[in-house]
Amino acid sequence: MSQSVTEQPSVIYLKDYQTPAFLVESTALRFELEEEQALVRSQVQYTRNPDSADRLRPLILDGHESLELHRLSIDGEVLNEQDYRRQGEQLIISELPDSFVLECVTRIEPQNNTALEGLYKSDGMFCTQCEAEGFRRITFYQDRPDVMAVFETTVVADKQSYPVLLSNGNNVDSGEEDDGRHWVRWQDPFPKPAYLFALVAGNLEFIEDQYTTASGRDVVLRIFAEAKDLDKLDHAMLSLKRSMQWDEQVYGREYDLDIFMVVAVDFFNMGAMENKGLNIFNTSCVLAHPETTVDTGFQRVEGVVGHEYFHNWSGNRVTCRDWFQLSLKEGFTVFRDAEFSADMNSRTVKRIEDVTLLRTAQFAEDSGPMAHAVRPASFIEISNFYTLTVYEKGAEIVRMLHTLLGEHKFRQGSDLYFKRHDGQAVTTDDFVQAMADVSGRDMTRFKLWYSQAGTPRVAVSGEYDAASQRYTLHMRQSCSPTPEMETKQPFLIPVAMGLLDQHGRDITLASGNTTEVLELVSTEQSFVFENIPVEPVPSLLRGFSAPVKLSFPYDQEQLVFLMQHDSDGFNRWDAAQQLAVSILQKLITDYQQGSPLVLDNALIDAYRLVMSDVSLDKAMVAKVLSLPSEAYLSELSDEIDVDAIYQVRKFVRQTLAKALESEFLSLYQSNCSGDSYSPDAASVARRSLKNLALSYLMATERTEYLALARDQFAQADNMTDSQAALSLVAHSVHEQAADELLEQFYQRWQNESLVVNQWLAIQAANTREAGLQRVEKLLTHPAYDASNPNKIRSLVAVFCAQNLPNFHNLDGSGYRFLADQIIVLNKQNPQIASRLLTPLTRWKQYSEARQSLMKAELERIGNSGDLSKDVYEVLSKSLA
Ligand code: ARG
Ligand code: ZN
Repeated sequence: MSQSVTEQPSVIYLKDYQTPAFLVESTALRFELEEEQALVRSQVQYTRNPDSADRLRPLILDGHESLELHRLSIDGEVLNEQDYRRQGEQLIISELPDSFVLECVTRIEPQNNTALEGLYKSDGMFCTQCEAEGFRRITFYQDRPDVMAVFETTVVADKQSYPVLLSNGNNVDSGEEDDGRHWVRWQDPFPKPAYLFALVAGNLEFIEDQYTTASGRDVVLRIFAEAKDLDKLDHAMLSLKRSMQWDEQVYGREYDLDIFMVVAVDFFNMGAMENKGLNIFNTSCVLAHPETTVDTGFQRVEGVVGHEYFHNWSGNRVTCRDWFQLSLKEGFTVFRDAEFSADMNSRTVKRIEDVTLLRTAQFAEDSGPMAHAVRPASFIEISNFYTLTVYEKGAEIVRMLHTLLGEHKFRQGSDLYFKRHDGQAVTTDDFVQAMADVSGRDMTRFKLWYSQAGTPRVAVSGEYDAASQRYTLHMRQSCSPTPEMETKQPFLIPVAMGLLDQHGRDITLASGNTTEVLELVSTEQSFVFENIPVEPVPSLLRGFSAPVKLSFPYDQEQLVFLMQHDSDGFNRWDAAQQLAVSILQKLITDYQQGSPLVLDNALIDAYRLVMSDVSLDKAMVAKVLSLPSEAYLSELSDEIDVDAIYQVRKFVRQTLAKALESEFLSLYQSNCSGDSYSPDAASVARRSLKNLALSYLMATERTEYLALARDQFAQADNMTDSQAALSLVAHSVHEQAADELLEQFYQRWQNESLVVNQWLAIQAANTREAGLQRVEKLLTHPAYDASNPNKIRSLVAVFCAQNLPNFHNLDGSGYRFLADQIIVLNKQNPQIASRLLTPLTRWKQYSEARQSLMKAELERIGNSGDLSKDVYEVLSKSLA
């Protein structure tokens, strides 16, 4: 697992891709699961790849160094040590016939697998995570996505401890042995790469439902969890059935096996995994109950269940040729799940949330040392590329195709893609080609989105000539250098736009439409609109039609005008954001110069206007009334001034709260309802607005609102209201009340692991002084478990990403703390260690003093001994 910094891990290049030397006809696996070990026997039928010109290429199998090889035989003949070579992560066998069965027995220790890749134990149950390269921790195999085979899996284990034995496909046989052990055999008829293999063995219970597909196939649906969580599975089941129906209606895709299973596990590095017929989920992405789960949690479950289900076509039936193509499945599937969520809930609000994530975290990634193209050209450790760029920016690329082609052609393109490539492992070029073929468009320039990293900037200006009634938009695009890419070619940027007249109405454009998609394809380009009777206000990048930073020199009045009138809901919100950003940025400068802070009335007036606009959906109002986050303000800064951003944002919140106190109070009161909890969109919207109002009221620091929050906490019948009140009190100046409520909350929920995670996160985010000491104390609390990624994320990651004043303390203690955590995790769980590094990788963005402190900690990690490939890659790129 470990690799010292001196013997540098090798870089893998897309340009070096070679087809596999051998193809696999079938893979039969037998797992003997025990407490101290698992024995894995694989029997694999190989044939030489007819594609491969070189008939002498050896069979190269991947195998992690932790694999203990017990036996290797070819067509029944045992191989001796001179018949093969084990070299690093590979096992090489030469001089092979064109067709043969390789049998291999390995011994592994799932109970000691803390990396949570391959076969491991989560809370007493066996489970797997094989994407991207976990299968090589189970047996020797060509662990690459373009090697696809049908799998048969037999699982043997003690019946009492592991009554449930699952794998991919259909249960075809089972039996008992005399020694209290039992076995189940599963067959998956669909050829798949090893990364989609899954196994689960445990003491699980399940809920069951059924779904009949459009063509009449009856599918059994089962969701498994530990008995204590059985009451938290209904929402996932409902989401699953909705996903199945949505994929039939919107993409014409039906499910293809007789059973679909989901298993909830507590120890999981990521959100969830789309293993064929047997999805494995982090409990945080599948369990939901009104008493224990907040509204955003319900929405997350719906989105992730949809995402993993949609992978059955976009990922499993058609998969990736190699890991450079990861966005082929992830970008497309994120786009699909986003559209599903948009159809199930408020479309505009979903878009606002996704764009917010993109603009804060993805844009930051794209301008940092780990910036990479959506289809990277090289990597050291593929786990490091499960990123916002591959997922979210990848989804934006698919969305742009949808915008350029329109709904109908896009669907034809996706139909062609699935038909042409069903059962194949393909590339992002193949995906775009299907879109090119149905539309007759040349996509050469468009494909630069996959190969060029960095966020393009688009500077726009408008010019109106009253005499000729002509309006012209001048656009100029540019993209800053990113690692290994100094200059960029111009992108094809679809700019959806409209023009508003003096009353705020859309002007009908020459096409007959009120929204048009302009295609910016060169560095500079102008777009002319004829017959425009008055100087318009342009509404640009409607629906955020491209992942770019677009600027237009709006003045405050124009932004307020767009906020009120734009027919595009996303742009109404965005106008409010731009107004708030410009006001906050000016105050940040004032703060830095020591000038007194005075809030511009424009923002107060704009807020008042929005609060009184009854035409707006409540969820929208809550979004518009939320100030840009510290993370977004940081991303927009050339040099991040942590203290200025924090103080100014706090000042603006407080000033708004005091200026609009009575409005916020009536907003709060009018959105308190006596109805019992329901997670429907309207109720979610009402609660989000109510709790937003409460947060402003609390910002006034007046004790009567503390009483209001305490009442809400005491009376809430759902976690959304209870947690909102708790977090407001916990983060308030009322320290004694904070301690009381936190204690009460813990006493009530200490046996609900996911609720305890929220309790940890609320405390980790508390910006009050001595934040690090509180976090360090929690590390030793019985609620914490340093081997569980969800706990690490709730406490350590939240502290470093959300508690800016404490993490960035100028005494360097926050940075030192994070480095210490990473040094331990590097050995224990490299994937998590590498992710935790993110805040430190941005060191160049801060002041001199912070830069040197952060850099010193990065160097200390580098000198701490053997580095995993995961940590090595991020560290070396950050220090380059
Ligand atoms: N394919 C999974 C998804 O649905 C993510 C798996 C990531 N696993 C990993 N080890 N990086 O997005
Ligand atoms: Zn995915």
